[in-house]
Amino acid sequence: MISTKMQNAINEQINKEMYSSYLYLSMAAYFENTGLPGAAKWMYVQSGEEREHAMKLFEHLIDRGGKVALGAIAAPQGEWAGPMETFKAVYEHEQFVTKSIIALYEIALQEKDYPAQILLQWFINEQVEEEKNAVAVIDSMKRIEAHETAVLQLDHQLAKRGSK
Ligand code: FEO
Repeated sequence: MISTKMQNAINEQINKEMYSSYLYLSMAAYFENTGLPGAAKWMYVQSGEEREHAMKLFEHLIDRGGKVALGAIAAPQGEWAGPMETFKAVYEHEQFVTKSIIALYEIALQEKDYPAQILLQWFINEQVEEEKNAVAVIDSMKRIEAHETAVLQLDHQLAKRGSK
């Protein structure tokens, strides 16, 4: 049986993951509207992964007889100043999520909740990947900034992102 403290903290994280999914969907719409379908595709994939993250936590609660309590998802921003600013916002958001996962892991340690610790170790690794992916796009953009055709080539590259 899962503790109430751990259960509440996991429910809060489900909300953050769903918000992340919503945020990246908003970024996908922004890229569609600004003529960068490859970047939009990257965001659709990212948005889908965030929902999967929420579901991993959701299923963990269900499997352990916990209670899922879904809260309202805040409306995300809808406009950004350009592709670079958008991917910088992704990186900042992922850093925020990493801190949140670490705080959740600390609760799992205090609660001596070993199943939650094992689950959260997956998330800690995933956050390394998430931050790395955002930084990789930002680095590519830094190299090509101000070259419109190169931005379009990068967009073509981003379109190739698979589901993992
Ligand atoms: Fe679910 Fe991007 O962290």
